[in-house]
Amino acid sequence: MNDTAEMLRLEGVSKSFPGVKALSGIDLSIRRGEVHALLGENGAGKSTLMKILGGIHQADEGRILIEGEERRFAGYSDAIAAGIGIIFQEFSLIPYLNAVENIFLGRYLKNRFGLMDRAAMKRSARELFDELGVRIDLDAPICRLSVAQQQFVEIGKALSLKARLLVLDEPTATLTPNEAAHLFNIMRELRARGVAMIFISHHLDEIFEVCDRISVLRDGANAGHAEVGETNVDALVEMMVGRRIEHSFPPKPRPAPRGRKVLEVPHIQLARGGPVNAFDLHEGEILGFAGLVGSGRTELALGVMGADRAHRKTVLRNGVPVRLDDPTQALAHGIGLLPESRKVEGLITDFTIRFNISLNNLGRHRSAGLVDRASEERSAAELSRRVGVKAPGIETRVATLSGGNQQKVVIARWLGHACEVLIFDEPTRGIDVGAKAEIYGLMRELTRQGKSIVMISSELPEIVGMCDRVAVFSGGAIVATLEGDSINSGDIMRHATRGGLQ
Ligand SMILES: Nc1ncnc2c1ncn2[C@@H]1O[C@H](COP(=O)(O)OP(=O)(O)OP(=O)(O)O)[C@@H](O)[C@H]1O
Ligand SMILES: [Mg+2]
Repeated sequence: MNDTAEMLRLEGVSKSFPGVKALSGIDLSIRRGEVHALLGENGAGKSTLMKILGGIHQADEGRILIEGEERRFAGYSDAIAAGIGIIFQEFSLIPYLNAVENIFLGRYLKNRFGLMDRAAMKRSARELFDELGVRIDLDAPICRLSVAQQQFVEIGKALSLKARLLVLDEPTATLTPNEAAHLFNIMRELRARGVAMIFISHHLDEIFEVCDRISVLRDGANAGHAEVGETNVDALVEMMVGRRIEHSFPPKPRPAPRGRKVLEVPHIQLARGGPVNAFDLHEGEILGFAGLVGSGRTELALGVMGADRAHRKTVLRNGVPVRLDDPTQALAHGIGLLPESRKVEGLITDFTIRFNISLNNLGRHRSAGLVDRASEERSAAELSRRVGVKAPGIETRVATLSGGNQQKVVIARWLGHACEVLIFDEPTRGIDVGAKAEIYGLMRELTRQGKSIVMISSELPEIVGMCDRVAVFSGGAIVATLEGDSINSGDIMRHATRGGLQ
């Protein structure tokens, strides 16, 4: 094929890590000014392929051609010089520097006296963000910006480096729907300017919103290519997993379980003068916390657990008032939280999968005061298998796993935990379609064993498909609690946007 519009071509790219063949003979062709989706299950090799393109990993075999010319990148700076910009799955900004300093890091603009020209850099950064239509506080350190703003800074930085090919590795996994829509507008604008993009996401509906063509990886090999207009979600899923997937959720018990109350929060007020909330959790039920991102769901959960200070709160566990001043106390009362940002809070990545799954959970495998290593191993291996962690074995270091597989390890830990009350914050974010179904099944199984779950989720289908009752949040308050047939997207959105859409 001699495609003059072709900007990038990967030919026969292979890569092995110790014990893992991550990529075998990958071909990929990207045209100028197209948005090209790169799809595949967790661990399929998407990020690895992009790191090879970015010079961070070296391919064992294969060629990289840019505009028909073979290139070799010894490091990321070589790739940048060739017009490639990558927004990594793990961000690479320096948290305590501001946006301007991050953008011009290592190549500060100088004035005619040879001194750093802060004003010129700030002006140039401001122009860049104006063009993108985003507002960024240029003086604030990066760590004080929202995730979306940090991402826009990353994009701004790549563009200021004159990127003609931009790689976005799961940019939307941590964005609100509004922010994602904004990102898509920016992507369309960049496409109109002739910038090519490679877009990675586990949200297949997004692919149909912004992408032109699609390439699918399965187990490190090419699984197929498609034009967006000529395919559909089911076909893509089949290409990714190699089989059809039941999209349906495990059946809900009917009538919905109304066991005894395992957790009662008759009132909680996070901040003086703020809204006062109340909710109960019954044995064996899944209670959803629905609402727009920023509506106060995570804050309430953290407040209940004692991870954040509440101005005023009363919590009863099995009918008895308890003090929950920190998560350790909560854990002692059988309440566990799977946090939203798992990378930072959940994992010790230098340690093995087994260790991370068994962490704060060894009590279950103790007999006569000793940890029963065999039982611990069996249980960790079983959980790891069920949530679909892709790794050579449970003694593999978590640091070498793909992003989604790391998340599965944290989920496995909490699914296997002795806690009777589990709070899951966005449990399936960044998780591939096949594993999602398995995780839903495991959650249902836990409730059948009498455990109770609070599920915070921004994905309406997940809330509707999984929850026995749903508390809908708006502006920090629970504005409605729905059950039965009133658990549907329409009613949830109506309550969630009661204060008007921002
Ligand atoms: N530094 C490394 N050392 C060892 N193995 C690695 C390393 N980096 C990646 N791998 C392995 O390579 C395979 C592909 O991982 P990769 O991160 O490319 O997946 P991915 O498609 O991006 O998945 P996800 O959707 O979860 O982000 C996985 O089996 C992973 O464990
Ligand atoms: Mg990845």
